[in-house]
Amino acid sequence: MLAEGGDHAAAAELMDQALEIAPEWAAGWDLLGSFHEKADNVAGAISAWRRLEALDDDGVFGARLKLAAHNAGAAGEGTAVSYVEALFDQYAPQFEDALVGKLGYRVPEMLDALVVEEMAALGIERFSKAIDLGCGTGLMGEKLREKVVFLEGVDISAAMIAETARKGIYDNLQKAELVAALNARRAEADLMTAADVFIYCGDLQPVLAALVPALKPGGLVAFSLEAHDGEEALFLRPSLRYAHGVAATRDALVVAGLEVLRFETATLRQDRGAPITGILVLARKPAVELTAANDGASDGDVAA
Ligand SMILES: C[S@@+](CC[C@H](N)C(=O)[O-])C[C@H]1O[C@@H](n2cnc3c(N)ncnc32)[C@H](O)[C@@H]1O
Repeated sequence: MLAEGGDHAAAAELMDQALEIAPEWAAGWDLLGSFHEKADNVAGAISAWRRLEALDDDGVFGARLKLAAHNAGAAGEGTAVSYVEALFDQYAPQFEDALVGKLGYRVPEMLDALVVEEMAALGIERFSKAIDLGCGTGLMGEKLREKVVFLEGVDISAAMIAETARKGIYDNLQKAELVAALNARRAEADLMTAADVFIYCGDLQPVLAALVPALKPGGLVAFSLEAHDGEEALFLRPSLRYAHGVAATRDALVVAGLEVLRFETATLRQDRGAPITGILVLARKPAVELTAANDGASDGDVAA
């Protein structure tokens, strides 16, 4: 009640007393950390999250991420799978009302517009197989449905998958971490999308290194990121979502061997009363892959 009424310092004091009685209560330390954070007591929050880290064996509370976002530790590599899974399992029933209804989320529309323009340029009416990474409740899938013969969705959260399964949008749904799912596939999709997903994955290079081999030659990928203007390639925000540097994102696309077709900044949605600026990318796997044998070859031979 104190926290709901906005008195986070008093809520923290009460939670401190509760934790004296129940010191092994992980969710209590998590709440204490967030009350301190909201009361602008960062030192208090860090100390609570350190206690949480010792109890959060599976990482569902994201203690390491919370510490890292306040410069008090390292986040670890890749998606914090247990945290993201628990977050979206909890969020699934109200996801669309909150994100689309209240926060003006528009990423699926914006990525879809890029895909539609490219389809017109290529003169194609349908993709044969698309994989929507981090499909969530299917907002991206709804946009893609009529443009794809076989549409797959992959998501780490069972509750998000259950929400989208009810709508019957996708031909196949897989509950999996996306890098692991991509590593099991070879050159099978001619379109991949990831709307508001790589913001949970951190470093783009391992994601793209898994994604590119799963795309057919000439296949397209459309995804969004949250952007930041700083020097760093990557920055973990207090929201526990990653913001990617613009220059580093371009570099990662080149390293992955993708041709950049569109690279735009746009407002993705609102968050805590402020607009979130993001990057929208549409890129293509080259139709003919360069190999050591033909890279820079002067005799005009091209290896397929
Ligand atoms: C903000 S939601 C976006 C959902 C959907 N793409 C949309 O635009 O409405 C992010 C989704 O990505 C999923 N996700 C995040 N990281 C993931 C990962 N590494 N592997 C699989 N799914 C992931 C989450 O479970 C969640 O459903």
